[in-house]
Amino acid sequence: MTKKVAASLLSADFLELGKAVEMLNESENDWIHVDVMDGEFVPNISFGQPVIKCIKKIAKQPLDVHLMIVEPDRYLNDFVKVGADIISVHYEACRHLHRTLSAIKDLGVMAGVVLNPHTPVSCLKDILYLCDTVTLMSVNPGFGGQKFIEHTYDKIKELKELITKNSLSTLIEIDGGVNVQNATSLYQAGADVLVAGSAVFSSPNPYQTIKDLKK
Ligand code: DX5
Ligand code: ZN
Repeated sequence: MTKKVAASLLSADFLELGKAVEMLNESENDWIHVDVMDGEFVPNISFGQPVIKCIKKIAKQPLDVHLMIVEPDRYLNDFVKVGADIISVHYEACRHLHRTLSAIKDLGVMAGVVLNPHTPVSCLKDILYLCDTVTLMSVNPGFGGQKFIEHTYDKIKELKELITKNSLSTLIEIDGGVNVQNATSLYQAGADVLVAGSAVFSSPNPYQTIKDLKK
């Protein structure tokens, strides 16, 4: 079982972003999760390429870029240029998902698909072989600090079965409402990567919280 933590910078203090990245560098964190929101695909705007370029300058862990934007194809090259190592696009935002995932892979980075809470796992059946990661949203995307949707456990199990049945090595990532209390059951259900925003950045001891998330 892979056990990775991808701390989400969305919950960091943006005035102290450099310090947040340095803290992650020194911690047991595995990937740095970067949430890009356009105010159209989701009802919120976060940050884009210029900020990611700065993060990349000091980050010692791979940048896991979660694109919550419409027409992600228009920006794939830009996000690779500023340092993305993994690019995930929403199933719901892609009309030609095969083309989009192929384009990400052609740019030399890992390709991922994200499913909103209402999107069934079964829709990945014919595209899973192109997915390095699949992220199951366990909250409705757009904001940090929301409550975990319990139905996600059923989706993890279903996705794990689909991956195993097809002898693939796709990683299952869970995003939203992850904390020290539910981390173990999520890994046990089949998750490989846990995204954690507020759990890490609201913690009085983020180093220990990252450790606890991996226990
Ligand atoms: C939400 C983002 C998440 C967010 C998670 O749309 O995709 O990555 O940062 O935040 P928490 O861990 O606080 O739910
Ligand atoms: Zn995210």
